[in-house]
Amino acid sequence: MALHIMVLGAAAGGGFPQWNANNEASRRARAGDPAAPPRSQSSLAVSADGRTWILFNASPDLRQQINDNPQLHPKEGVRHSPIVGVVLTNGDVDHVAGLLNLRESQPLAVYATSRVLSVLDRNSIFNVLNPAFVDRRAMALDEAFEPATKDGRPAGLLVEPFAVPGKVALYLEDPDAGADFGTVEEDTIGLRVAERDGKAYCYYIPGCAALTQELGQRLEGAPLVMFDGTLWRDDEMVVQQAGVKTGRRMGHMSMTGPEGSIAAFAGLGVQRRIFIHINNTNPVLLADSPERAEAEAAGWEIAYDGMEIVV
Ligand code: MLT
Ligand code: MN
Repeated sequence: MALHIMVLGAAAGGGFPQWNANNEASRRARAGDPAAPPRSQSSLAVSADGRTWILFNASPDLRQQINDNPQLHPKEGVRHSPIVGVVLTNGDVDHVAGLLNLRESQPLAVYATSRVLSVLDRNSIFNVLNPAFVDRRAMALDEAFEPATKDGRPAGLLVEPFAVPGKVALYLEDPDAGADFGTVEEDTIGLRVAERDGKAYCYYIPGCAALTQELGQRLEGAPLVMFDGTLWRDDEMVVQQAGVKTGRRMGHMSMTGPEGSIAAFAGLGVQRRIFIHINNTNPVLLADSPERAEAEAAGWEIAYDGMEIVV
């Protein structure tokens, strides 16, 4: 028994290269530079048996991600998918837009907090997921559950959602709601993902604004944490003239700096640390950058599309 994890997409919203990004890194990626491999948008597939898969987030690149990973191809009959469910960690475009690729009356179960489900409910385009075939199931914070197929067969995983510091999705920001733009606790969650019938587990936290003491205690000694790798430094988009927002403004802690993730994880004894959800401005995307060397020297791995992990 083991937990099989496939990184379908390792980049943040926009992917790498992002459609309108013309920085050197993006140009290298488009030119096929082997040190700048493209990365699609943020998503994992996880399985306990290697046959039945649960998606963790559904990115706009999902159609291609399925085509690129034979484990996710149909295996039998005229219509079939090894994907039986989707678990969402927030309502961001990079994490929910891929649901639209999962139409065509295929039985599925979509899990999210009540808050994120209410966002899907308010956007009628998601009704292309025919409710006769696709269940929407609410996850309660701090309550572990077993993701199951539409007809109730457990997929062999145990998933526990918990709130992490973050920000409401960009398109839901309320400018009149103060400094947090109307963010509520259920907007951004982390997940503990475990085998139901085994000991293997990991944490998946693709968006996180701060590593609180409580979160640090939770992650202490974990065998694997896949963590928000959006930015190298808080002001990198401003410095690169790629945008006006800091990481802090976007609800993402950065890798570096005194409150950055590399420093925050230093004493936690997490055995394997992998950055995921990496923005197109982050120099760690380049295999030959000094920043990549620095992150690796600090014990971190940089996720890439097609990365397979067995816990
Ligand atoms: C984020 O992770 O901050 C969002 O996905 C940004 C976006 O909506 O592009
Ligand atoms: Mn995102």
